[in-house]
Amino acid sequence: MKKVVFLTGAGMSVESGLSTFRGSGGMWNEYKIEDVASIEGYERNPALVLEFYNKRRQELLTVAPNEGHRLIAELEKHNEVVVVTQNVDDLHERAGSTNVIHLHGELMKATSTDSPNNLSYVRTLNQENLEIKIGDKADDGSQLRPYIVWFGEAVPMMEDAVLALRDADAFVIIGTSLNVYPAAGLLNYAPAGIPIYLIDPNDVQPYLPARIKVIKSGASEGMKSLFALLSGEH
Ligand code: APR
Repeated sequence: MKKVVFLTGAGMSVESGLSTFRGSGGMWNEYKIEDVASIEGYERNPALVLEFYNKRRQELLTVAPNEGHRLIAELEKHNEVVVVTQNVDDLHERAGSTNVIHLHGELMKATSTDSPNNLSYVRTLNQENLEIKIGDKADDGSQLRPYIVWFGEAVPMMEDAVLALRDADAFVIIGTSLNVYPAAGLLNYAPAGIPIYLIDPNDVQPYLPARIKVIKSGASEGMKSLFALLSGEH
């Protein structure tokens, strides 16, 4: 295989100890999406939203990439690999992936409330300055906010993801319920004729196109079974 494109979701990071959003134990059972993951929720109660992401950033420091992340990174030795992810964690990068497109933003980055997609205002947070508080300012003087794409906001990186998929030789979907658009719509841009694999221990979407080869397992097990095939070792 020459160019492999991935679409990953919260299930990719389950074996690292991070929870999914939907299904048992999912984050949306504990919080209401509209309170902590929507632009209306942020405008209504910014302190609650800042606290939600401060907690997720603290948690992110305590987890590590899993075997699935590592195998995806290892594919780069023999293939061109693009990882399109809905995840805001940095586990793909920490595993060694060098070409990651974050459709829904990045937990370890912060931006301006007035111009969230102006990259000159995006800054990287680190262990020393992990939290964002009310009163912290971006360089344009507006309140600093998480560099996260909230429900109700545009998904600027979708165009890059569609372009990346256009000349792929294989497309691998891991750990996403394919519930959220436009991310889930990436499937429609897969070139005709290339193999599409979907790795998930549960049934995803009742009406998956027949051409998709489903591997009913967790991310690490699924990547182990696919690795030789994807890396063109045979
Ligand atoms: N390995 C692989 N997949 C797994 C594993 C595992 N060990 N455990 C669970 N899964 C699967 C679940 O079966 C489910 O299909 O991961 C998927 C997680 O789905 P969601 O919780 O809906 O997460 P995701 O699809 O990433 O959500 C998309 O919704 O709330 C928004 O912005 C948020 O990016 C997120 C988007």
